Amino acid sequence: MRILELFSGIGAVAVAAGNSAEMAQAFDINQSAMQIYRANFSSPSQVQEITSLSDSLLSGFADCLWWMSPPCQPFTRRGLRKDNEDDRTKPLIRLISAIEKIRPIHVALENVIGFENSKTHKLLAESFDRAGYTFSSTELSSSDFGLPNLRPRFFLAASRENQPSLEPPPASSRKVVSDFLDSDDELKRWEESLFVDPKQIADYADAINVVNPQSDLTRCFTSAYGRSIVRSGSYLQVDDGFRRFSPTEQCRLLGFPREFQLPGDMSALQLWKLIGNTVSIPCARHVLESFNRDSFSNQSCVDLEARNK
Ligand SMILES: C[S@@+](CC[C@H](N)C(=O)[O-])C[C@H]1O[C@@H](n2cnc3c(N)ncnc32)[C@H](O)[C@@H]1O
Repeated sequence: MRILELFSGIGAVAVAAGNSAEMAQAFDINQSAMQIYRANFSSPSQVQEITSLSDSLLSGFADCLWWMSPPCQPFTRRGLRKDNEDDRTKPLIRLISAIEKIRPIHVALENVIGFENSKTHKLLAESFDRAGYTFSSTELSSSDFGLPNLRPRFFLAASRENQPSLEPPPASSRKVVSDFLDSDDELKRWEESLFVDPKQIADYADAINVVNPQSDLTRCFTSAYGRSIVRSGSYLQVDDGFRRFSPTEQCRLLGFPREFQLPGDMSALQLWKLIGNTVSIPCARHVLESFNRDSFSNQSCVDLEARNK
């Protein structure tokens, strides 16, 4: 299978695909996200505005699965919900029209819960019908796959070749937070950025979530982590007080392998912003498996090194 990764961000889908698929091309508008992508993958990647992709360029990827993780702000419960009238939906609308014309073999999409009730979802479903796709959708979270992190998201798998079926994930026991923490040496990289004032923890006690290393669930980490004290993710209770979860810890809680590189010149604040927008690895993998169980079933862990360097 070949994958066209649209809105590629830091490369969650490339991680989830591992050796089971060829990454044909990644597109994202964000330079910093692309810096991380390129630190981990040597497959083709380009900083580009998706609305500027021509039909003739996209036609070269008709044999691919098109993975789309478009911006979720137009569909979030806390936002204005401008849906298809929000400028940030334009690149997705552009792709919906390209899908109907070019008819790539498979299409997958990830977004926030609630997207399924949007006008944009309706547009997409109507295009799928006209272009002869069958599709299946579901809610998945990292916590469904044994990771101690909540990240409920809407996923969709569509195909004009087979009938993808997004089954519920197999039951798995949940790991605890301590399995995902940085060593004392690794923590040195983050210096003061993990510090959180105990007074703030006390002041917002009713609105924030504090866990300890034996906890089996953390809240969803958003791109506001480090900037907003509330509703942006959990804090960790440690011997001498409280601290934030580091970017590397957040990546592991989302299923990224330990070898995944976060360039040393990027600050925790920059990284939290990008990681808050990424996709849970086991969820993405589950969706990829729904297209082709044979090629994905033999690979239980992601081997970044073998594929890239
Ligand atoms: C929800 S995030 C997806 C993240 C990604 N799947 C990952 O693994 O990190 C949305 C991404 O879309 C990118 N994006 C937003 N608008 C775009 C546009 N018009 N053209 C290209 N990329 C865009 C953002 O930079 C961001 O990385």
